[in-house]
Order: sequence, then structure tokens, then C-alpha cells
Amino acid sequence: MILREFPPMGVYETLFRFADATSSYLGEPGTHPWAQGFPLTTQIPGGPELPTSVRISAEDRMYPKADGEPTLRRAIAAYYNEFYGAGISHENVAVFAGGRPAIFTTLAFLRDGWKVAIEETEYTPYWDVLQILGRESVLIPSHPGNRFRPTLADHPEGDDLFLVKSNPCNPTGVMTTPEELSALVEHYSRKGRGALIDEAYEFYGDPEPISALAHIRDIDATNLFVVGAATKGLQVPGMRVGWVVAAREHIQIFRNYSSFGMGGVSRASQLYVTELLELGRVARARSAVASFFNAQRERYGEGLAALGLELFTGKGGFYHWCRLPSGDDGDSFNERLFRKKAAILPGRLCDMARRGASGPLGPMARFSFGALTADSYERDLEILRRCL
Ligand SMILES: Cc1ncc(COP(=O)(O)O)c(C=O)c1O
Repeated sequence: MILREFPPMGVYETLFRFADATSSYLGEPGTHPWAQGFPLTTQIPGGPELPTSVRISAEDRMYPKADGEPTLRRAIAAYYNEFYGAGISHENVAVFAGGRPAIFTTLAFLRDGWKVAIEETEYTPYWDVLQILGRESVLIPSHPGNRFRPTLADHPEGDDLFLVKSNPCNPTGVMTTPEELSALVEHYSRKGRGALIDEAYEFYGDPEPISALAHIRDIDATNLFVVGAATKGLQVPGMRVGWVVAAREHIQIFRNYSSFGMGGVSRASQLYVTELLELGRVARARSAVASFFNAQRERYGEGLAALGLELFTGKGGFYHWCRLPSGDDGDSFNERLFRKKAAILPGRLCDMARRGASGPLGPMARFSFGALTADSYERDLEILRRCL
């Protein structure tokens, strides 16, 4: 073996364990995909239809532009200008093959010497990316003691500090208030600071979608990187389209990287996502996603709490972040769930210090209701009740 070895990211680790135990793939019909991070890919109540095709011309068969097709970059800029008054142009946007490549690339090109600040409980693959890139990180406390709700006062001091944060947070669902977000943006816009704000769950907020771009006055004067993706809000994980909004000079670095390392993103996918971002359509998608999933969060919250799970969930995302009763840990709970073709994500996989099942996140579980239709509720709760 001449390659550096590395295990799969936590969500996939769980999927592979499930496949070994059940001989099926979590997400297939007949399974209960509570471990996964994908949303329904069908029309939701009150939401717009999802197109079933795109037209491809000879031009679309050519290589894509390294930083994204201008029509998609313009549609993304217009989207943030319309809904958040962002004041950006397409030159502030680079397109990637999903949210994770956008995150990986930003961190891969972060200059040596910059230290990453990250909440203790965060999106699983941040850990893998920081490990593989050998980045030093400082943890911001986020545990049951502060109910996974760190404030700016918990952030480290010092220069050359780069925050990596999901908002709403995966796995906790904790979402900043607009006031907190404005203070965070101000703090990390200062000299010697920067931040990657990952808004994969932007649409999934109560009472409404949220973006740091509502608070950034002149992104060209900052080291801020706002990551978005068509994956969750637009309900198309399979299209593999994500993007970064940042200063023009940073976008040029992404363009240069793509010219030797990525070769751009599928033009067919970019055409599809451009259509989804038509302003009237996306306005309907935003309000339908927020109202359907906010209602699901509420309903599952009541059901899970009645089963004795202690909930720490915030007001965003499509997960419940729960403490299992009576000393159970996520992995042993999963062994029982696997027998019912169900799985959750064990909390230890969201621990940015990877302290294992006996660490502070050992008794935690992330339950996803993202891919569940409104009619699966009773059956879901019955399986959970039996396995608890
Ligand atoms: C916090 C967060 N960021 C980014 C992503 C982006 O995912 P993808 O690479 O599938 O677009 C996800 C998906 O699970 C996520 O949960």
C-alpha cells in the first residue's frame, strides 16, 4: 500500500457498519435512515416541483469554467442579494462539486500559521479534514454543560485565528440569533481573523432561513468564506453543487486551484441548479422547507422526549440531538436499531477531539428526520420505543 491510510468519515462509517450487519444500504426502501444527512428529494407540501430533466446543447458538452458557469454564479449572487441584501457580485462566488469540496479547498489553502477555532461538537468531516491537512485547532466549549450553546465569550483570543462553524449547527441544530451572527461576523472580520461559515442548513431555520451574508457589509474587505450548497435547502444532494462566497481575491485562488485540481463542476448539474435558483421558485422553496421541517422538528421532539430522551436540539437543521437514557451509548443503541433496519449517528463521531464512546459525547445520538415523510412518524417512534 503506497497510499496514506485513512478511515471513512463518521457518517459513512455508520453506513458501512449498518451494511455489514443488515446486508442492506441505509436509505434503501425498508430501512429507517435516521443516521443520514440527506433531505427528502421529492416535492414537499407547499414547495415547488423538482424538474425532471435539463436540456444539454453542444456548448454544455464543453469543459466548464474553472470557477463555475457565469449564469450559475450570477444566480447565486442574485439569490443572496435578494434575500439578504448581500451586495455581492458573481465575482464573489466560486462553484464546487458540493459543500464538502468547498470546505476542504478553503482549509487546504489556508496559510500556515493560522490556527483553526472550532466548536467541540461539530459536523463530523471537519475532524477528518483537519486531521488530513495537519491543521492545529483550538476547541470552543460545546457540551451538555453549556447545552451546546457557546457564546462569543467562549471563543479563543489571539491573532491569525480562523473559525470553522456550521450554522445552523450539524449535529445540534443550534442556530445563532441574527444579533449573535452580526457580532460573530464583526469579530471575525477584524484584521488577523477569518472564518468559514458553513450554511448547508440555511433554509432549515425557525422562524426563517438565516445567512451571515445579511451582516457582511463588504466581503472584499474580509477573510470570511460563506459556504452554501444545493444539497439540503434545494433538496438535490445528488447534483453535487456547492459554492463559496468570499472576497474576489480568494475566489481567484479557487479558480486557479480548479484549473489544476478539479477541472470545474458538471455543466449539467450547474444548469439544473441554476433553474432551482430562479427567484420566485426559490422563495417558495425557502418558505416550504422552513414550515414543513420546523413542524417535523416539533413533532419528533415531542415524541422523542416522551420516550425519555433528553433533547438539546436548537431551532435549525433536520436533526434532534439527544442524550440516551440510562447510560446507553450511541454504538450499543445502534446494535439494537440495526436489527430493525434503523440507525442513528453516534454522538462520539461529532466530537472534534474524538474521545470515543467513553468521552463526553458517548451518550449522545443524532437523530435525522430529514429524509422522513410525514407518514412515517408512528412507525419510527414504535421502533425507537422497542430499542430503548
Ligand atoms: C454542516 C454541513 N456542511 C456541508 C454539508 C455539505 O454536504 P455536501 O458535500 O453533500 O454538499 C453537509 C452535508 O451533510 C453538512 O451537514
